[in-house]
Amino acid sequence: MKQKIIIDTDCGSDDAMAIAMAMNDAKYEVLMISTVAGNVTLDQATDNTLLTLEKVNTYFPPVYKGCATMLNKKLFYAYETHGNDGMGDYGYKPTYLKCNKDNGILKMLEVLEKEPNKTIDIIALGPLTNIAVAFKLNPDSMNRARNIYVMGTSGLGVGNVSPVAEFNIWQDPEAAKAVVESGFPNLYFIGWDACLDDNMLDKDDIERISTSGELGKFVIEINRKLLEINYERFSGEFLDMADPAAMAAALHPECIDKCKKYYCEVDTSKGPSEGSVLIDVNEFSGKEPNAYIISHLIPSEYKNYLFKTLCK
Ligand code: RIB
Ligand code: CA
Repeated sequence: MKQKIIIDTDCGSDDAMAIAMAMNDAKYEVLMISTVAGNVTLDQATDNTLLTLEKVNTYFPPVYKGCATMLNKKLFYAYETHGNDGMGDYGYKPTYLKCNKDNGILKMLEVLEKEPNKTIDIIALGPLTNIAVAFKLNPDSMNRARNIYVMGTSGLGVGNVSPVAEFNIWQDPEAAKAVVESGFPNLYFIGWDACLDDNMLDKDDIERISTSGELGKFVIEINRKLLEINYERFSGEFLDMADPAAMAAALHPECIDKCKKYYCEVDTSKGPSEGSVLIDVNEFSGKEPNAYIISHLIPSEYKNYLFKTLCK
């Protein structure tokens, strides 16, 4: 019996690598993919998702559009990190797959209602707008999910869009707040810190994937903008792959090193700490922990899982 998952994505170049991992792990069945604006526009994220499924070419779960805008914040697309098309600006487009016309959020709820209770994991790789709206529309259906894994927060480290905020949370803080306050018991945040330091892909890792075949070449080349930025930042070839780290933690939990449940609070103020997530490590608040924070992976386990699912 395969473990069933739903992926929600703002499909940029690191989301694409994460989706490819999931599509290549035979232990899992991706029931559907919902898209959300974030790295790029909703339409672009949807095309990028379809393109990725074509490149992986294993099976083709339905892709549905979700929210084109955030709950209460204008969009700041991450073109500098992923390219104007989110996929390294090669001009790649899906050639035959089309997205389904149904609404992605309603479809997520429908799938959760149809499948047996607590048998589906949701893996969210973009701003939490779709997830928040789904909780608002029908919390009982969302609570039928087994686990919700989110690439989001700066974990126990620093931010990537401000000193304290990570992009997915910062892009829609109100949505993140709604999800954290939903009371869902198995909410896991994989922080940006989980893909840094010894979990960065180095030159050898990058070469191993990019020379392994067509898919490996694709998932590396579409991250060329980030490679260029990192060459400046770190004077060498490195890739901090946030969504792949989150996907690995969700699908290959043997790679999780540091994971603990804390009381978390999302800052929706419009000040310098907007979009940060206060993680009450030292329990100052005395409040009940409400989310797990995965802040470090075991590099060998993480990277071997990447190689296993991408080097095809
Ligand atoms: O902060 C990194 C996250 O923001 C990743 O999910 C990336 O794809 C962007 O959505
Ligand atoms: Ca993403």
